[in-house]
Amino acid sequence: MKTNVKILAIESSCDETAAAVVENGRKVLSNIISSQIAIHTIYGGVVPEIASRKHLENIDGVIRLAMQEAACEWKDIDAIAVTFGPGLVGALLVGVAEAKALAYALDKPLIGVDHMEGHIAANYISNVDWEPPFLCLVVSGGHTHLAVVEDYGVNRILGQTRDDAAGEAFDKVARAIGLGYPGGPKIQKAAEQGNPEAIHFPRPCLDEDGYDFSFSGLKSAVLNYLNQQEMKKEPIRQADVAASFQQAVVDVLTAKTMQAAKQYQIRKIAVAGGVSANAGLRKAMTEACQKRGFELSIPKLVLCTDNAAMIGSAAYTLYQKGQFADLSLNAVPNLTLGAKN
Ligand code: KG4
Ligand code: ZN
Repeated sequence: MKTNVKILAIESSCDETAAAVVENGRKVLSNIISSQIAIHTIYGGVVPEIASRKHLENIDGVIRLAMQEAACEWKDIDAIAVTFGPGLVGALLVGVAEAKALAYALDKPLIGVDHMEGHIAANYISNVDWEPPFLCLVVSGGHTHLAVVEDYGVNRILGQTRDDAAGEAFDKVARAIGLGYPGGPKIQKAAEQGNPEAIHFPRPCLDEDGYDFSFSGLKSAVLNYLNQQEMKKEPIRQADVAASFQQAVVDVLTAKTMQAAKQYQIRKIAVAGGVSANAGLRKAMTEACQKRGFELSIPKLVLCTDNAAMIGSAAYTLYQKGQFADLSLNAVPNLTLGAKN
């Protein structure tokens, strides 16, 4: 087996066009991200058609930059990896088609990567000594999972959201209180000026035994509160709503994770996905883990939200196992965590 495996990874599942070169799953040689936030902000959310078109415009340049910054030539690259799901189908297809073309033209192995495996793997880059087994809270715009990562790329799902994902709730509440897109960072910023105890929103599923989540009820509670205030002609303090909502989400995510750690006697906890960028969640997780003497891993901010370095890290596991894709690789928009290509 080769000792220094360099993988070119491509990510285009949503609104970031990204490419990276990663060595042995841990060392990032380059990590280029072209964000589409500016254009989607005009429309108040991600417009799938625009996302695909922007990926198409940017992908060649992003890959060229990733290769340049890594000081690599094509002969140095051992495999081409790409996110093939979950995500927006048209957006995924741009990355998948590009990766297939490169793999075919350069005669390199092709690796299809589950985007959520990528989010988990961001921990292997941020904390170079981090190894399975551990408990991982995966919280993104489309997914909320609590999983035991038993080995690299081997997950046992303990629970997941029954309706909205945590990030989706942030985005919808941000829109409802007039903060717009992208919701998570804007709620966080507003929350810094607000009182998290000003309004009591429900903590869904907290009293239940299992590890499922539900955030649509919490979103409805915020909408009801806004309606009631309007009917009573009473003011809405945006910062207080943001802080109180964020606190409710953070309380549920942290408590459920600690509950699972106790039941399954796991002392290593990781957090992954876009919502792991949230300062309130990072603080609450840090405090909860310190109190119990648990080890905690949360990726650095640039690796929490979508990027291709995390895809290159997850791809290394598949490379080692010899799990390569062929040119029939297709986008799978509703791929579920742990499914194999
Ligand atoms: O992982 P990600 O970049 O894309 C998906 O795979 O979905 O996650 C995006 C989600 C969005 O819902 C966004 O609002 C949320 O992550 N997010 C945050 C923060 N930064 C991004 N949520 C709360 N606080 C943040 N600072
Ligand atoms: Zn993501």
